Amino acid sequence: MAAGISMATMISVFNLLLLTLLRVRSVSATFSIMNFDCPKGSSYSLNSTYHSNVVTLLSSLSANASRSPVGFATGTLGAATSDQVWGLALCRGDISGSTCASCLKVAPVYAFGNGTVDYCRGVKDVSIYLDSCLLRFSGKDFLASPEEVANQVLYSRSDVTVTVNPGRFMELTADLIGKLSDYAAANNSALRYAAGVMTSSDGFKTASSHQNVRDIFGLVQCTPDQAPEACNRCLDRLRGDMLAELNGTAGGQVHAVWCNLRFEIFHFYESTPNDIPRKMAMPVHFSLTSAEKRCQSLLDWDTRYRIICGTARGLLYLHEDSQIKILHRDLKASNVLLDADMNPKISDFGIARLFSSEKTSTLTSQVVGTLGYMAPEYAVRGHLSVKLDVYSFGVLVLEIVAGRRNTDTWFQSEDDESGTLLTYAWDQWSKGTPLEAMDSCLNCQAPESEVLKCVHLGLLCVQEKPADRPTMMDVLVMLHGHSSASFPAPSKPAFAFAYNDLSSALALSESRSRHAETSGYAVCERDVNIRVQD
Ligand SMILES: *[C@@H]1O[C@H](CO)[C@@H](O)[C@H](O)[C@H]1NC(C)=O
Ligand SMILES: *[C@@H]1O[C@H](CO)[C@@H](O)[C@H](O)[C@H]1NC(C)=O
Ligand SMILES: *[C@@H]1O[C@H](CO)[C@@H](O)[C@H](O)[C@H]1NC(C)=O
Ligand SMILES: *[C@@H]1O[C@H](CO)[C@@H](O)[C@H](O)[C@H]1NC(C)=O
Ligand SMILES: *[C@@H]1O[C@H](CO)[C@@H](O)[C@H](O)[C@H]1NC(C)=O
Repeated sequence: MAAGISMATMISVFNLLLLTLLRVRSVSATFSIMNFDCPKGSSYSLNSTYHSNVVTLLSSLSANASRSPVGFATGTLGAATSDQVWGLALCRGDISGSTCASCLKVAPVYAFGNGTVDYCRGVKDVSIYLDSCLLRFSGKDFLASPEEVANQVLYSRSDVTVTVNPGRFMELTADLIGKLSDYAAANNSALRYAAGVMTSSDGFKTASSHQNVRDIFGLVQCTPDQAPEACNRCLDRLRGDMLAELNGTAGGQVHAVWCNLRFEIFHFYESTPNDIPRKMAMPVHFSLTSAEKRCQSLLDWDTRYRIICGTARGLLYLHEDSQIKILHRDLKASNVLLDADMNPKISDFGIARLFSSEKTSTLTSQVVGTLGYMAPEYAVRGHLSVKLDVYSFGVLVLEIVAGRRNTDTWFQSEDDESGTLLTYAWDQWSKGTPLEAMDSCLNCQAPESEVLKCVHLGLLCVQEKPADRPTMMDVLVMLHGHSSASFPAPSKPAFAFAYNDLSSALALSESRSRHAETSGYAVCERDVNIRVQD
């Protein structure tokens, strides 16, 4: 193993297998233009009554929408047929009245032009979509026939593409938008608005980032005057267009006047309403349940098997091959780093102990390590032996096979809130279905015999009695064997301390440490810095 492993160039097994939710930062609303529709054909001159009517109407709509509890206003102005103008203003469901006012204040620049942005200048029928408000005015009474106008649909696509399995990304996005639409139409009757995030357990790759993207953020909105069915129809239509027009991009918007939708891989809406009376819709969080666990997983079986074997060799080296014996004491997924070729390196020897070669076990007065990976005889009684690393190795092997952490809440149920991967793997083993513990993503590609070998081996390593657990030498022999048929049958695992047992385990070990007898064994009681050389 390399000395002085560079953390920056490596990722840990933990990061690969068990990514946690991205922490997202709320971004404040801005007033960039997203889209506009200003068909040439009907025009007006800037000194006409129509123009002055539009100016007055927009300012009135802006004031009314900002004051409205739902951020919405419609109206008309003008008596003569040629002068009459109809208008509509809508603010995004998550912004405050004052933000709404600021957003709508920007719209006239685009509507009338300013010498630079003149695409709508003098056009009679104008729709402008900013990222937190929209505005439409027309010389025709479009307010009378809301459904018709859904024919006017515009798209803005992100320039970031999804590089791996874009079809799947779109499928999830459509699922999210569908759920949000139902919520906006059926439940959020005041605002007809919903925003939320869907988290994919496996994530996606995009052209803009080397990181796995796991969260897809979505937003839908209808004008609040719409009935549930009309809102749903409008959003359904846009969702269909989204599937057709925005497939492959990592973000986009579909705009119509009566409804609109947006999806992004970043958090673009306000998380918490900043103007409570006006805000009724909190973001909704949709998580994919375990049943929907998806596979585009970076770690194929061959890689996982290589990590298991490499980690076993590393531990064997610590336990038996080096001049001094070393107990790692804190082996876990986050301490196994992978280099660019996915070769594992055991890291973090912060609490490792030198160990006498003559004696096979001893006691320590100071229990340190990570719950979930700690062998019970060590956690509770401070019993030190190579078998505690073997135990942690067993947990790690089962995690790598399952693609889940030992303490993943997935293993908890109403009947058994303290469920862990170990209890699950043991249950499956007892029922004669050990392969159920396998990551469902591996179904087709992993040779059953190897997976079975690893599950079997993992269970042998986490047995309750340290003496029953194999040594790392035994483990390597088993890994190199062809099948697990000759392995001994595992006994029930020592169910390691998950969250529920944390405090009792710590209390026990604390009281034990007060009466600790430091054994006469040659254990170096100082924590040592160890550099492991090739
Ligand atoms: C508007 O301006 C044009 C010239 O740009 C002029 O011909 C027309 O008479 C003006 N109309 C009004 C109502 O002032
Ligand atoms: C704005 O609200 C006021 C007060 O309710 C109303 O009189 C006015 O007509 C509204 N403006 C428009 C453009 O509808
Ligand atoms: C016109 O408005 C656009 C958008 O707000 C702005 O970028 C541009 O600088 C403005 N041009 C002038 C001449 O004011
Ligand atoms: C999206 O594109 C992918 C290919 O990139 C394709 O497999 C999938 O069927 C497309 N989805 C839709 C809804 O068109
Ligand atoms: C939304 O409304 C539907 C129909 O009334 C109801 O079944 C569902 O539980 C509601 N969902 C939420 C999240 O309130």
